Amino acid sequence: ELEGSLRPKTFSEYIGQEKVKERLSIFIQAAKSRGEALDHVLLYGPPGLGKTTLASIIANEMGSGLRITSGPAIERPGDLAAILTNLGDRDVLFIDEIHRLNRSVEEILYPAMEDFCLDIIIGKGPSARSIRIDLPRFTLIGATTRAGMLTSPLRDRFGVVTRLELYSVDELKLIVKRSAAILNVEIDDLGALEIARRSRGTPRIANRLLKRVRDYAQVKGNGFIDMDTASKALDLLDIDKLGLDHTDRKILETIIIKFGGGPVGIDTLAYAIGEEAETIEDVYEPYLLQIGFISRTHRGRIATRLAYEHLGIKLGGFEVEG
Ligand code: ADE
Repeated sequence: ELEGSLRPKTFSEYIGQEKVKERLSIFIQAAKSRGEALDHVLLYGPPGLGKTTLASIIANEMGSGLRITSGPAIERPGDLAAILTNLGDRDVLFIDEIHRLNRSVEEILYPAMEDFCLDIIIGKGPSARSIRIDLPRFTLIGATTRAGMLTSPLRDRFGVVTRLELYSVDELKLIVKRSAAILNVEIDDLGALEIARRSRGTPRIANRLLKRVRDYAQVKGNGFIDMDTASKALDLLDIDKLGLDHTDRKILETIIIKFGGGPVGIDTLAYAIGEEAETIEDVYEPYLLQIGFISRTHRGRIATRLAYEHLGIKLGGFEVEG
C-alpha cells in the first residue's frame, strides 16, 4: 500500500514532534549502549499523528523486531500469551488502542511488563496449579487517543509517557512536499501550503488530501499542483479554508443553533449530531479546541466568537428567549 511507502523509517526522515523525537532518541541510545530493551512507551494523542510510524521507527532504531496488534484484536489472555511467548529478545510489541484491552488480558500484561513473565493457571479445582513462563525482555509501545482512558495500574507501568501534538502548518507543508516527491507529484510551495492549511494539524489527513488533489490535477489540469488547483480540489471535497469538514461544521452549528452557543454536555451534543461522544472528543474536538472555535467549561462545550465568525452566524442571533 502507498501509505506504507510514505511512512518515514528513521527519526531523521520524521518531520515534527521535535520533543518526542529528542527524548526517544536519547532513551534508545542509552538502552542500546547498555544492551537492554527500551523501557515501555505510552504514546497518546489524537488519531493520525504518527503513533504507529513512531513505533516502527523505534524498532528500527533499536535494531529490533516489531509486532503490531491492537487492543480489540487481543480477545482472550491466551491470545496475548501466544504473542508474548513468540517475541524475540528486545523486540517491540506495538498495541494500538490499548485502552480497549479486556480486563482479563490487561491483568496478564502487568507481570509481563514488570517482571517479563507470565503466570498461567492450568487445570481446575483442587488440582489447579500456577506455572510461570519467562518471557524475553521486550518493549511494549502502547497507543491511545487519551491517556486518561487507561487504568492507572496499566499507565503506571510505562517508563516513558509521551503526548503527540497536532502539527503546525509549516510542518504539514514539509510533509506534503516530502510525500509529493515520493509519489512523483509535481507541486509548488503555495500548493503544498494550501493542502497543509486544510489538514487539521494531521499528517494522515494531509497525505489523503494530497492524493485527492493529485487526482483532481490529473483530470482537470496538467497534473501540476499549485494553489489554485489545490484550492478548487479541496472546495469540491467540501473541505473549507481551515480544513473543517461536514462533521466539524455540524458540531459547531449544533452548539450555536440548537443549544444557543452552549454550554452543552458532550453526550447531549453527540446525541444531537448522531456521532459517538468518544469520536467527537478524540477526532473532532482537538482541532476545534486548538483553533479556538470551541472551549470546554465545567458545564460543557461552548462555541466561541471565532466559530460564529467563521460560519457567518451573528453572535446571539439564534438565542432562544426564556
Ligand atoms: N508522513 C506521515 N507523518 C509524517 C511525519 N511526521 N514526518 C514525515 N512524513 C510523514
